[in-house]
Amino acid sequence: MAHVAGSFLLQLALQVEHLLPQDNATVLCSPGDEARAEYWAFGHGHWTMKEGCAVAHRKKDFAYWSSTWAAGLTALKGSPSYKDPAIHTADGVYIFDAEFCTVNGFLDLPNKAQLLQNYSAIMEMEERACNSEPLQSLSASAHTSALREAVAMFNAEGEKDAAIRGAPFLETGVLERVNAEHCTKRRYSCMIHFCLNNFCKLSDGRVGQGCQCRKDFRLMPVPTSGRV
Ligand SMILES: *[C@@H]1O[C@H](CO)[C@@H](O)[C@H](O)[C@H]1NC(C)=O
Ligand SMILES: *[C@@H]1O[C@H](CO)[C@@H](O)[C@H](O)[C@H]1NC(C)=O
Repeated sequence: MAHVAGSFLLQLALQVEHLLPQDNATVLCSPGDEARAEYWAFGHGHWTMKEGCAVAHRKKDFAYWSSTWAAGLTALKGSPSYKDPAIHTADGVYIFDAEFCTVNGFLDLPNKAQLLQNYSAIMEMEERACNSEPLQSLSASAHTSALREAVAMFNAEGEKDAAIRGAPFLETGVLERVNAEHCTKRRYSCMIHFCLNNFCKLSDGRVGQGCQCRKDFRLMPVPTSGRV
C-alpha cells in the first residue's frame, strides 16, 4: 500500500512539474518535437553533447550534432526577447549561441541552403579558418576554458539593464578564443552547421530560431532501438 501511495505521489509530482511555467519552447512547432528535444537534451540522447560532433564526422552528416543535443537544449532553454549591442532576439531564442552565430557572421552567409547539404564544403570552411591566424596560434596554445568564460561573461551581462548591457562576443579576443577552442575539438564545422540550421535573421532583423526560421524545422527522431 505504501508503495502504491508513493508511486501515485511521484506521478502527481511529475504532472505538476509539467504544469509549472517552463522555458518557452515556441521555437518548436512539429508534433512530437518537444519530446524529441527532451530526449536529446536530457534523456538517453544526452550522449550527443559529448559525442554528437564526432559521430557527425564519422557519418559525414552534421545532423548528429545540429539536430540532437544542441538543437534540443537550445529549444528548451530559450529566453524572452533579448537585446545587447550585438543581437536582438525573438522570444524563446537561446541567446548565447544566437550571439555566437551572429557575431561570427554565419547567419549572413549567402549560400546557406547549399552549405547545409554539403558536408565537405563546411569542412573546407573549418580547415580554412582553423589553419589560419589568429585561430591557428590560439588553438596551438589552447585553453579549454574559453567557452566557459564566455558563458560566465554572458550571464553577468544578462543581469544588467538592456541599456547598459555589453555583448561579450564583441569584446576583444573572446570570439577568437571560443572559436579556437572549437577548432581544437574539431567542432568549428559542427558549430557552423548548427548555426545555419538552428538560427536565422528574421525579416525585421531579430535573430530567430527553429520554427521561427522555417516551418519544417525538426529534430532527429528518437531512435527506436539502441544508439545511432
Ligand atoms: C512564450 O511564448 C508566448 C507565445 O508566443 C509569448 O506570448 C510569451 O511572451 C513567451 N514567453 C517568454 C518568456 O518568452
Ligand atoms: C560541395 O562543396 C564542395 C566544396 O566546396 C564542392 O566542390 C562540391 O561541388 C559541392 N557539392 C555539391 C553537391 O554541391
